[in-house]
Amino acid sequence: MAIRKIKEDIYSVGAIHWDRRLFDEIIPLPDGTSYNAYLIFGSEKTVLIDTVDPATENQLFENLKKFNDLKIDYVISNHAEQDHSGTIPKILKLFPDAKVVTNAKCKEFLIDLLHIEQERFIDIGDNETLSLGNKTLKFIFTPWVHWPETMSTYLVEDKILFSCDFFGSHLATSELFVNDKAKVYEAAKRYYAEIMMPFRNFIKGNTQKIEKLEVDIIAPSHGPIYKESSFIIDAYKDWISENVKNQVLIPYVSMHGSTKIAVDYLVDKLIEKGITVIPFNITTGDIGELAINAVDAATIIIATPTVLAGPHPLAAFVTIFLNAIKPKTKFFGIITSYEWGGLTADWIKQHTTNLKSEFIDPVAIKGLPKSQNFASINALAEKIIEKHKALAII
Ligand code: FEO
Repeated sequence: MAIRKIKEDIYSVGAIHWDRRLFDEIIPLPDGTSYNAYLIFGSEKTVLIDTVDPATENQLFENLKKFNDLKIDYVISNHAEQDHSGTIPKILKLFPDAKVVTNAKCKEFLIDLLHIEQERFIDIGDNETLSLGNKTLKFIFTPWVHWPETMSTYLVEDKILFSCDFFGSHLATSELFVNDKAKVYEAAKRYYAEIMMPFRNFIKGNTQKIEKLEVDIIAPSHGPIYKESSFIIDAYKDWISENVKNQVLIPYVSMHGSTKIAVDYLVDKLIEKGITVIPFNITTGDIGELAINAVDAATIIIATPTVLAGPHPLAAFVTIFLNAIKPKTKFFGIITSYEWGGLTADWIKQHTTNLKSEFIDPVAIKGLPKSQNFASINALAEKIIEKHKALAII
């Protein structure tokens, strides 16, 4: 990533990972990502906010070399995950007088994960400030976005919030600031759904903290920078609210067609009633799309054949994934097909205890769907409609 100037004495110096396609060995990155690091020159001290994933460390080093006689006094670590902290050890070697400024929990993690020596740290507390001379950094603890140690750094005089993962988006782009709002909204929602949604309740408190600050610019550590902070704060407030939409998400897998016939029938019934339906073929779908659609869907129905007495393994994976990301969906149901028995619906129910949804009676289909099965699916559709009406979303 080329060096980009944000404001006088404030630069973006991190890396763009254009062709990365997977994060944490599970999260698809259709648009790549960036690891944003920021260099700030105060009249007395120079600070680097976060670093980059070691796979892209050369981009950071090349950028830093372009500043003549650069001396870094402080490296702020907002988050210990290695895509932001992994290059700190090499930065500390390049700048032997630099100190890592962070909170006690992040320090503990950095010592564990990266073997950084204890004496290289300066501990700071919540709302504590650090003077750079003519500029002041204020540290705002924002735990669980998405690790327990996560914090944001606020540059007081310039009203810039460096929020690390919080408000970020996995989006590789040459644009420093948000330009294509629709594209960034989608990427930020995907990021929220995959990374932040399990911590929805913590985000409420952290967003309130941020709103107490006067923030002109939000500079996250992934994706473009927000010049209009309300754009992303308002989006987060909507996603974390209890509001759901008149949508039914149906992740499904079908081996010989029985489950697919049932899903297609349900989809048509719901469409006829004016409900937005999102059938998601688990075998070909991108689980990021699944996660995005789970953010607002009032109802989720998992549909799967029975395999070796339980759900198809891909449906089991999606069940565990949905349970982990904890969408606010209000109603949850299951369609299974089978020929000689099994405990598929029980297994799915037992593995979705994180969903605080009302459970709708499952539909079980023996063999190819028959008239009584279509009647059960009709009843399921009617139940969904009744529930959505009760929420006044239909
Ligand atoms: Fe972008 Fe939690 O690391």
